[in-house]
Amino acid sequence: MKKLISISLFIVIAIVSLTVTNACYYDKEDILYPEQPCDTSKTVSYSSDVVPILSVNCYNCHSLVNAPVYGENLILEGYVNLRTYMLLEPETLENSINQNGKALNMPRGAAKLAKCSISDIEIWVKQGARNN
Ligand code: HEC
Repeated sequence: MKKLISISLFIVIAIVSLTVTNACYYDKEDILYPEQPCDTSKTVSYSSDVVPILSVNCYNCHSLVNAPVYGENLILEGYVNLRTYMLLEPETLENSINQNGKALNMPRGAAKLAKCSISDIEIWVKQGARNN
């Protein structure tokens, strides 16, 4: 009888631990949440897509008010300022946010922008960097 109990106990433990290890396997983050591709077919808007990204990540150093103090006078706030800089320095802004070694890494001292924020800015540039 004691033997039977220990055998069934062993079976129960085996089933439980198998379930647990399997659960761990199937709960892997990249299996449950595969990386979503960015939407590259949309029209990207300056005012509703680009400005929100820049205002959260860049204006604390590159706004009209902050640039002289924190951003080496590089003003990225306002369409004309952004566009003028991008025409004077083609690709520097894209290189800086891609952190590809061809420009200084931006945002300075912070994590790289989210993949789809970078993609949005690149699409906006490809679509003519319009004031849309
Ligand atoms: C904490 C302040 C800070 C933040 C935030 C910041 N920058 Fe900068 N940025 C600077 C400073 C300061 C410089 C001048 C170069 C230097 O000293 O790093 C600069 C330079 C640049 C340059 C010129 C790079 C080059 O290689 O010539 C670009 C483009 C730029 N920033 C874009 C951005 C963008 C886009 C963001 C937001 C995604 C951003 N920055 C966020 C402080 C900042």
